[in-house]
Amino acid sequence: MNILHIDCSPRLESHSRGLSAAIVAKLLAARAGASVTRRDLGLQPIPHADAGYAQALASRAAQDEDAVRLSEELIQEVEAADVLVIGTPMNNFTVPSVLKAWIDQILRIGRTFVSTPEGKVGSLRDRPVYIAVASGGIYTGERANQPDFLTPLVTAAFACVGLKTLHFLPLQATAFRDQAQLAEQRDILLANLNLA
Ligand SMILES: Cc1cc2nc3c(=O)[nH]c(=O)nc-3n(C[C@H](O)[C@H](O)[C@H](O)COP(=O)(O)O)c2cc1C
Repeated sequence: MNILHIDCSPRLESHSRGLSAAIVAKLLAARAGASVTRRDLGLQPIPHADAGYAQALASRAAQDEDAVRLSEELIQEVEAADVLVIGTPMNNFTVPSVLKAWIDQILRIGRTFVSTPEGKVGSLRDRPVYIAVASGGIYTGERANQPDFLTPLVTAAFACVGLKTLHFLPLQATAFRDQAQLAEQRDILLANLNLA
């Protein structure tokens, strides 16, 4: 089993990093011989879509190899993975721009999805995706005090390419819970995590 482990926080002492690392550790404990591929978007951000890439996506002609090189590299990392584990902060109600830049490279018409009259149809094999989300406030449940554009965006974007088995693990209120409370919350999320 190959795990693609992606982190998005610019901070090393990050709650989403801690939770994504714990998910990877749980997967490794369950699957002897599993390997991990790292993509650290927080520490080594990829560039935003540039003019060449935008042109390649806009044209119906064959896509220029140079313009889609990064996209191809990132897509192949996903294709080589049996499981994806993503650690991400919530930034302004949605994903941080480093993760959006990655999504922009992964959703490529004619490569990871096709457009049909009924909508976009994904070309990738489905596989589990675990998404560890750290948020300063609360965005789920009765105590939610802000909108959540992260979950619907990630759900729609991943479904577009064929990834439909998503598991969100929200580690919330990092701004006003102490370390012990956050550790307890993290342990509950991990205990409820079904690796099937
Ligand atoms: C630019 C920015 C925007 C943020 N926007 C939100 C937000 O919309 N909602 C929220 O609950 N927390 C927000 N936060 C707080 C982070 O989600 C929180 O600090 C989280 O723990 C960061 O993840 P990390 O611990 O993995 O670095 C924001 C933080 C930053 C830096």
